[in-house]
Amino acid sequence: MIGIETNTNFLAKIVFFMKNPQRILITGANSGIGEAVALEYAKEGVFIAITGRNEERLAATKKELEAKGATVDARVLNVTDEAAMAVWVKSLAEDGPIDLVIANAGVGFGAGTKMSLHERAVKTFEVNVNGVFNTVHPAIDVMKQQGHGQIAIVSSVAGFLGLPGNPAYSASKNAVRAYAESLRGTYANRNIEVNVICPGYVISRMTAQNKHAMPFLMTSEKAAKIIVKGLAKNKARIAFPFPTFSLIRTLQALPYFIADKLLRVGPKK
Ligand SMILES: NC(=O)c1ccc[n+]([C@@H]2O[C@H](COP(=O)([O-])OP(=O)(O)OC[C@H]3O[C@@H](n4cnc5c(N)ncnc54)[C@H](OP(=O)(O)O)[C@@H]3O)[C@@H](O)[C@H]2O)c1
Repeated sequence: MIGIETNTNFLAKIVFFMKNPQRILITGANSGIGEAVALEYAKEGVFIAITGRNEERLAATKKELEAKGATVDARVLNVTDEAAMAVWVKSLAEDGPIDLVIANAGVGFGAGTKMSLHERAVKTFEVNVNGVFNTVHPAIDVMKQQGHGQIAIVSSVAGFLGLPGNPAYSASKNAVRAYAESLRGTYANRNIEVNVICPGYVISRMTAQNKHAMPFLMTSEKAAKIIVKGLAKNKARIAFPFPTFSLIRTLQALPYFIADKLLRVGPKK
């Protein structure tokens, strides 16, 4: 009986932290989706740790978050630096539990890049895949010790298929989506919840490079509201907007020779 009550209390505690995370870490939070999500969480009593490489933009975001009452640790860090990321995550945990980690930092080298196909693939994977590992793995160590936590990995609707146009981007987002889904089942019994975020087109510095049509393009503020709501509900997949995700699901469900023909005429990522 006591065991059941303790478990119920513990579950209630986890649900509370998912709805009201008090100590949050977000990578790539000095712009776009990461910044908008940080702003959505920012309020009195909330601690937010943010990273990015650009110091000026990071300082500007810190100021905005503080203006909303949050306490902020802003670090100029490259998510590809495995050692520095581990030291940072672990040092934050020394000051208190980390309730939520959002591995958001990502790159997408568009058609205008001068990089070779090889260089583009290696550099994309360094940030979008290794950068996620460098964020999430120290976070899991910390969360195992503290006994609770939530980890969200930012993939994309481009992470459900091999979309033409930017193969490295699509492949990197497929990799982290599958990784997040697998982690979710792996750590479910350790009170560590894992969610994957799969946005369609969102206005940001990344999409500003795109020359192609971007159906159902939305603001980062709107995307942030959907993400925060989805994380509070512990949704396994937070995929949006509905029309884009439905289209992707339809393409996945079709016999591949048909999807292949349709993908050839669609917008190239
Ligand atoms: N916008 C979309 O339509 C869309 C759709 C689906 C998924 N996503 C994903 O959403 C995430 C955020 O992208 P966004 O659209 O908001 O683009 P963004 O405005 O360009 O933001 C990318 C963020 O990642 C940071 N970043 C990039 N490389 C980094 C590195 N090596 N180390 C540390 N930080 C790094 C950037 O800061 P610094 O440049 O200062 O380092 C910036 O804060 C990405 O993972 C992206 O793939 C975006």
